[in-house]
Formats: sequence, structure tokens, C-alpha cells
Amino acid sequence: MTKEIRPFHAMTIGRLAFQMQAEGRSIVHMQYGQPSARPPAAVMSAAADMLDAGVPGYWQNEELTAAIADTYSSLYGVSISTAQIFLTCGASPAMVLALTAGFAPGARIAMAKPGYVAHRNTVIGLNMEPVELTCGSDTGFQLTADMIRSIDPAPDGLIVASPANPTGSIIPRDEMAAIADACAKRGIRIISDEIYNRLTYDAAAASITEFTTDAFVVNSFSKFYLMPGWRLGWLVVPEEQIDRTVAINGNFFLTPPSLSQAAALAAMSCTDELTSHLDTYRRNRAHLLEALPRLGLTEMAPPDGAFYIYANVDEFTDDSRVLCRELLEQTGVATASGVDFDPEEGHRYMRFSFAVTEAEVLDAIARMTPFFESRRRSA
Ligand SMILES: Cc1ncc(COP(=O)(O)O)c(C=O)c1O
Repeated sequence: MTKEIRPFHAMTIGRLAFQMQAEGRSIVHMQYGQPSARPPAAVMSAAADMLDAGVPGYWQNEELTAAIADTYSSLYGVSISTAQIFLTCGASPAMVLALTAGFAPGARIAMAKPGYVAHRNTVIGLNMEPVELTCGSDTGFQLTADMIRSIDPAPDGLIVASPANPTGSIIPRDEMAAIADACAKRGIRIISDEIYNRLTYDAAAASITEFTTDAFVVNSFSKFYLMPGWRLGWLVVPEEQIDRTVAINGNFFLTPPSLSQAAALAAMSCTDELTSHLDTYRRNRAHLLEALPRLGLTEMAPPDGAFYIYANVDEFTDDSRVLCRELLEQTGVATASGVDFDPEEGHRYMRFSFAVTEAEVLDAIARMTPFFESRRRSA
């Protein structure tokens, strides 16, 4: 039996939000990191074409792995062979595959806190031990090479995510290089979750593949490609881990849905359209960065990428779970409490996901203004 893992509290808020919506309430869904925009039309027609022609059985779309390999050379200037790329049902199983291929039960895996809830919980669920490194505003809520150098004893593995969830913050390129170097010196194997890599607002995010050939890389069609429900992602593995990963993947997961693989290949030719959604996120981010401090939410992680703002709510509550619930019940704006991302300090934070339309963000701000203003007065 695996160790007990904590539930994802954002799901509880999500369930309540959808229940309220079913009862006729108008809800702005900012609780999940789920793009509300539809994928490009070419994605739908590729899937429709496959439905007409017949859906192949177990299938690994080699055109798709080749197209993914090409992105590593065009975006980062690195050469990845198609044999290193495993198609998975999203980044979530890619993380399971990376952990089981790269580490033994009992392995100690370091990661940032705050961090994506499933990183910690997947490590625990696989009977490994998370080593959570507290990251504060001084480092943009991100890991640094100094932190890696000073963990005693050295962990077996390290999960990095840049841009990160819940903060959106990026590990600067030189720091990422220094982290790769520190890990190489201490024999720490890296898993880099690069699911938000193409969603950045100023500096581009580096890929760990630029600094080492010894890392696992998790990625997905859920965010930049707007295809969360298609459940498709991939894992890049180091050359010497290919055989082991083939064996584990063949037994645990086989292949992801053929329909999604066909659709994803079409998505990969729609880069201009997909990139244009960054304009919406950029405007949404600007609206929130203007409004939230005005409402009294002044301390936040630098939202360099992804589509999140992780803000301190000390001025309003001792428990952000209660605040999120009251915000939802009183205004219809659904958000996530920080407790998912940081069990110790997360009650002081909440996360706004702005992967919605600009109109929805403006509506949410209008609804939240009287809520936070009255809270502030009564606090
Ligand atoms: C950092 C991070 N990794 C992985 C995932 C899971 O992605 P997928 O839908 O591809 O399983 C998410 C989803 O929000 C995420 O934020």
C-alpha cells in the first residue's frame, strides 16, 4: 500500500463552483490551471479525419515524436533523438514514468516549496521521500544552486519547474545552468517539469536540456497547446535510460490515445495561433497586477510565466481555504488556496489562474473589489 497522500483542495473548490453553476450562479473559474480557449480548428479536423478513417490500435505516432524532437533543436538548439521521447497521457503520467525509471523506492527527491501539489504527492505515492526546500520571495519562490549545494545529505533526485506552478516564476538561465552543474557534481538526477516553458512574458525560460544530457524532461499538450482534456504529454529520457523506460512504459502505460496523438500533431503546426493566446494572458496578467495591489494584495511571486498569480493574503485571513470559499460563495469567483502548494505556509496565500478570457478577468476584478475592500476594513 502507498503512503497516504493529501487531496488536491482546488478540486474541492472546483466541485463547489460547478455545483453553484449548475444551480444557476454565474461563476468565473480561476481555480484551475486550465486554458479556457479552444484548441485550433486544425486539431478538431485532424481528430475528425482519424475518426472517419478509423482509429489505429496501440500506436506511437512517429511523426509526432519527430516533431517534438524538432522543437528541442529549434527552441533550445539541442539534439534529442526520437527514441528518447515517450508519449504519455499528459505530464502527470510522464512524471510517474520518470520517477519509476530514474529512482528506486525510498529515493529522496528534492523540490521547491511552494510547488505543484502533484510533485510532492506523486513522490510520496511511489514510496519515495520528498525533500521540500522552502523558497521565499528573496529567490522569487524558486530553487537556487546554493540550496542544492547545501542539502545534507545530497538527495537522489531534484524536481525543477520553470515557470512554476503556483507562482509562475522562472529560474533564470544562469541559475538553471548552475543547478545542473551542482546536481552533476553531487550525483543528483534532475526531472525538469517544462509544461509552462513556452508561456513566458519577458525572458524566455531555459530548458534543462541546454545544460545536461542526464535529465528527465516532463512536458504536455495541456497548457501551451490548449489540449488538457486530450490527455497527451511526453517524457524525454537520458540515452542510457531508454531501455529501462521502454520496459516500464510498456508495462504501466502502453500508448496514449491514438486520436489525441493525431490531433496533437496538427496542433504542432499551429504555433502562431497558439502563441497569440499569450497576448490574452499578458493582458489578463496586467489587469490583475494593476488591480490586486489596489485591493490590498501587495506581496506576490514574480509572474514571469505560466498563467498564475500567487499572492499573500495575510491582511485578510488566517486561512486562505476559508477566504477562497467565502470569495466563491459571495462573488462567484473561484480561486485556489495556497495550502495545496505549501502545506505549512500556503494558508497565507491564494492562487489566481488567469487562463480565462479578458472579459472574465475584468468581471472577476469587479466582483472581487467590494469583497476585498470590505474584508480589509473589517480586518
Ligand atoms: C507544473 C505542472 N506539471 C504537471 C501538470 C499536469 O499536467 P497534465 O495535464 O499534462 O497531466 C500541471 C497541471 O496543472 C502542472 O501545473
